[in-house]
Amino acid sequence: MSINFKLAEKEFKTPLYIYDFEYMRNQYRELKSAFEGSKSLITYAVKSNSNLSVISNFAKEGSGADCVSIGEVKRALMAGIEPYKIIFSGVGKSYSEIKEALELKILMINVESEAELFLVEEVAKELEVEARVSIRVNPNVDPKTHPYISTGLHENKFGVDIDMAKRMYIIAKKSNSLDPIGIHFHIGSQLTNLEPIAEAAEIIADLVKSLKAIDIDIKFFDAGGGLGVRYSDEILIEPSNYAKVIIDAVKGLDVTIICEPGRYLSANGGYLLTKVLYEKKNGNKRFTIVDAAMNDLLRPSLYNAYHRIELVEPKSGDESESDVVGPICESGDFLGKDVMLPKLDGGELLVIYSAGAYGFTMASNYNTRGRACEVAYDNGEFRVIRRRESFEDLIEAERLYLQG
Ligand code: LLP
Repeated sequence: MSINFKLAEKEFKTPLYIYDFEYMRNQYRELKSAFEGSKSLITYAVKSNSNLSVISNFAKEGSGADCVSIGEVKRALMAGIEPYKIIFSGVGKSYSEIKEALELKILMINVESEAELFLVEEVAKELEVEARVSIRVNPNVDPKTHPYISTGLHENKFGVDIDMAKRMYIIAKKSNSLDPIGIHFHIGSQLTNLEPIAEAAEIIADLVKSLKAIDIDIKFFDAGGGLGVRYSDEILIEPSNYAKVIIDAVKGLDVTIICEPGRYLSANGGYLLTKVLYEKKNGNKRFTIVDAAMNDLLRPSLYNAYHRIELVEPKSGDESESDVVGPICESGDFLGKDVMLPKLDGGELLVIYSAGAYGFTMASNYNTRGRACEVAYDNGEFRVIRRRESFEDLIEAERLYLQG
């Protein structure tokens, strides 16, 4: 089913995020079926696209949620994900976040340092509960991806090394307030290479064996997220091969495999629709100025990430290279560089692909721009799932304090 972008623009204006819910469900089903025959739980990485209706679309499929703030935990619950399928990760959880997570009785808190383990213990003691925890282990494996989204090397801030992890498991085992039920690793995002995942899974599975030998019974083997997707011509890891290396690594261990895909489920189900405002040339350099900007989709500016951009209605005429840029006052405000486009008059629609993950969730109000409208496309119909932000929305938290 192809999406009628022209109709969407007519109804909802631009810039506009459109999410293909059926595509996202199919991605979920494909990954889930790759783990058939093994105990598995897919916990959707909410950070990739945290719209309540998007989460709910996965919740109805039986998905769990991987969350990195108490806000994300509350979104997941609100969208219908059962508490026992929610994991709370992140290097800097605060006292109040830990307290709330324990009160909400989620599956487990993923602990990322010794100091944090002691804090979780203290909070659990106060609440007179036993906190289910997993420990995020940094296996020191190079995922061979963009340095900003590489997380499994000792030079990255995430997790703890193996020796520290062992010490923390022993502390947790001895504590009456902690129940160490899981182990976690995540080596990076947009992974297109299977070997580092296999290597990390084996390192962590070995650790699980040595923990089981000292009576620490790990029940959840959380292999993180990171499965790459196609932005241009990347050669991808097949979900079945991905599942196989993890299943092989845990053979003989009685564990439930967890994986935390974000991008794999949401990226290519999302489109950012934008309208051409003007064209201009500075010397020989051509610019196509559109109404979406880096505040709507930050990935090109932040990571130099490539997103395919196309005219919704093809136009005749010679094509030449143009930088597709937004109205924000930054030279780094671009959505595409050297995009081949025919001469444009203004008013044409452009679609930016692969915008379903880390698109809207990384949007900001920079330059006092309201965030875009989000719509779902499902069963041939559009449905608003977040209205466009108004100027009133933007100043709401400030206006009371305006003096003079
Ligand atoms: N689990 C953990 C512990 C993570 O840190 C992440 C992503 C995921 C799962 C989901 O990863 P995914 O399956 O989506 O690759 N803003 C960047 C991506 C940052 C990813 C951070 N962690 C981007 O736009 O590429």
